Amino acid sequence: MKITVVGAGAVGASCAEYIAIKNFASEVVILDIKEGFAEGKAMDLMQTASLNNFDTKIVGTTNDYSKTADSDICVITSGIPRKPGMTREELIGINAGIVKEVSSKLLESSPNTILIVVSNPMDTMTYLVHKTTGIPKNRIIGMGGALDSARFKYRLAEALNAPISDVDGMVIGGHSDKGMVPLISKATRNSIKVTNFLSNERLDKVREDTKVGGATLTKLLGTSAWYAPGAAVSSLVHSVACDHNKIYPCSALLQGEYGLSDLCIGVPVVLGKNGIEEIIELDLDPNDLAHLTESADGVKKTNSLLS
Ligand code: 2OP
Repeated sequence: MKITVVGAGAVGASCAEYIAIKNFASEVVILDIKEGFAEGKAMDLMQTASLNNFDTKIVGTTNDYSKTADSDICVITSGIPRKPGMTREELIGINAGIVKEVSSKLLESSPNTILIVVSNPMDTMTYLVHKTTGIPKNRIIGMGGALDSARFKYRLAEALNAPISDVDGMVIGGHSDKGMVPLISKATRNSIKVTNFLSNERLDKVREDTKVGGATLTKLLGTSAWYAPGAAVSSLVHSVACDHNKIYPCSALLQGEYGLSDLCIGVPVVLGKNGIEEIIELDLDPNDLAHLTESADGVKKTNSLLS
C-alpha cells in the first residue's frame, strides 16, 4: 500500500506520521515544493520508526512526482493555511491554482489513485478536483467532517464530564465557521441521547464552540491546527487502504442526495477500497435539514468564486 502526502507542512507531516504509526502502509511519500523540506521531514519521521515501532518507509521528495508513481491514495494538503481572523474561504485565490496543478500531476503518475482533499476552502477545493480531473466521483474525498466531528465529541465530552470513548456524534455540512451542522439530536453518551444530560443552553454552546473549533485554534496558534487535521485524514486513509468500510462524514459530490446537487459537502459516507462506497442519507429532522440546505447555499457561493 503506497500513500502520497502532498504538502510537508504541519498537517501533511502529522498525517504522514499517523499513517506510519498505524503501520498498514508499505510506503508514504511526502512531496513539497520547498527544497529539501519534505526530505527533512521524512528523515526526521523515519528516525522515530524504532521508537514508535513502525515498518512503514517514509520518503521525501522536492517536487518530483515520479516518486509518487502508482500511489493507491494521495492526500492533498498543499496550499496556504489561514491566519487569525481569516475565513477558510479567503484562501481560494491562492489554493485553487495549487490544488488544480497538484491533482493533475498526481493523476499523471498514479492514474488510478484515490484523492483525499484537505486544502481549504476544502468543500470548494474538492468540487474543483471533480471538475478539473473528471475521475469517478467515488475516488475524490474531502476531509472536513471527520475533523469537525472529533471537535464535536471533544466539546460534548467536556460538557458531559465524560470520557471521549463514551461519546459519539457527527458533524455534516460545509467545513466552514458558519456552515457546519453538528447533529445534536443524534449525539449519544454510550447510546443514551446527550439531550438527556445537557440543557439546550449548554448544547447551544457545544454547537457554537464546535463550529469555530478551527478558528479558535488558529487564534491560539497563529496558524491553522495540525494534529487533529492530520489524525482525521489519516483515519480516512486507513479505512480506504484497509477496506474497513467505516462511516465518516466527508465532502462528497452530491447528485440529488439530501435534495442537493452539483456541489461537494459533508455527508456520511462509507469508506472502503473504492473510496466512497456509499453515501448515507440520514433521516434528518427539519431543523438539521434546513441548516444543511443553508450550508449548501454557502458552499455554492464559494464555488462561484472559482474562475
Ligand atoms: C481546521 O479546521 C485546517 O480547516 C482545518 O483546522
